Amino acid sequence: MSLTVIRSAEGLRRALAPHRDAGKLIGLVPTMGALHDGHLSLVHRASRDCGIVVASLFVNPTQFGENEDFDAYPRDESRDLSLFDEYGVDFVYAPSVDEMYPDGFKITITVQGVTEGLCGAARPGHFDGVTTVVSKLFADCKPDAAYFGQKDYQQMKVIERMVSDLDLNIRIVGLPVVRERDGLALSSRNAYLSAAHRRVAPSMFGTMRAVAERLHSGIDLDAQSEWGQSALLDAGFDRVDYFEVRDAATMEKPREFGPGMRIFAAAWLGQTRLIDNISADFEPE
Ligand code: PAF
Repeated sequence: MSLTVIRSAEGLRRALAPHRDAGKLIGLVPTMGALHDGHLSLVHRASRDCGIVVASLFVNPTQFGENEDFDAYPRDESRDLSLFDEYGVDFVYAPSVDEMYPDGFKITITVQGVTEGLCGAARPGHFDGVTTVVSKLFADCKPDAAYFGQKDYQQMKVIERMVSDLDLNIRIVGLPVVRERDGLALSSRNAYLSAAHRRVAPSMFGTMRAVAERLHSGIDLDAQSEWGQSALLDAGFDRVDYFEVRDAATMEKPREFGPGMRIFAAAWLGQTRLIDNISADFEPE
């Protein structure tokens, strides 16, 4: 099947109905475009699991704060469409802002608890924007499964909570962070980095690994956040939003180090904000 681009929710519902009636599983890969191999790994997995793959392409204004990079966010629809086509996506849903948020649009979906702290604290309102747009995508597409990258691990946990609390019956599949050879997590925002900042950027991964090693060697959990922040600043980051260890299942702050934890970091290189996380279960060599 060749790629079909759909611009309206009604068009999406109409296009998918016969496939659903024929018993095909529908997989949704929500994106804001500016595709990289991380997104493509989601598409690849969705095509393995599902008979029909839908990708959404929508830079969602409501998840950006007032002084954030909504206007500057990289956009190249024709490149994204060719990649989706090459990777076997069946339908791309690429609505306009007016289609997504028509006049009179009044609803906001808020998930409590798991949105607190980390990106929820650093970017007030961000997760409300994410959960509201993802709910609309889920309502319009009615997927059996939806695919999210673990680079946005907190986002994935927020969506899992939403799906569970609203009985949406959609399987949320989270896939591992895809990295450059030097450890930098792939992100559409890496395109903003100057050559000098690009050289500093992989130290976020290096610092998280160093903290994992320190935790395994018995160094106190409480000291790690401060140590990680200083290490990022020493490496050349300009500002750190957070550096924290959290329980990977509940996203709560643990009292002491144990299995099933993740290390989360967000920091700035100039105007570019990078985020990343790794499992602290990683065994140092
Ligand atoms: O992860 C993203 O790219 C976005 O937050 C998402 C899930 C597509 C919602 O706009």
